[in-house]
Amino acid sequence: MSTDRIDDDRELHALHEAALAVRERAHAPYSGYRVGVALLDDLGNTWLGCNVENASYPEGCCAETAAIAAMVAGGGRRIRELSVVGGHAGPEPCAPCGGCRQRISEFADGSTRVWMRDAEGSMNPYGIDALLPEGFRLDKP
Ligand code: THU
Repeated sequence: MSTDRIDDDRELHALHEAALAVRERAHAPYSGYRVGVALLDDLGNTWLGCNVENASYPEGCCAETAAIAAMVAGGGRRIRELSVVGGHAGPEPCAPCGGCRQRISEFADGSTRVWMRDAEGSMNPYGIDALLPEGFRLDKP
């Protein structure tokens, strides 16, 4: 598989479907808000994550964080495509939280695309500059 963006609609569709499927496994008994993430890395591997809440609320983990941790453990270092879906009952428009934007940024580059659902149900791509303008970087003066 190419290490660049997916330009095949079927592969992107499969990534979105994988995000929807892993969302079903979310452990979200406290918020009732289930999130699923599927990401494609620079090695061509797909990694999944869902939110895992905890009775001690701050110990819960976001879906993006889980997927990124899986990618790093599997050897991936760049996010090429990341699909995020979330909502209460069914999927709704769901955007990564601020902390997850920073975590995505750590492994993103100018060609990374983060896909989010809109009110009509379409998945739309966003670059990291749009998601985290003027984000923190250690190499900035
Ligand atoms: N959540 C995520 O998994 N990712 C985000 O980017 C935003 C929020 C989860 C955390 C919590 O389990 C639930 O959604 C409600 O905040």
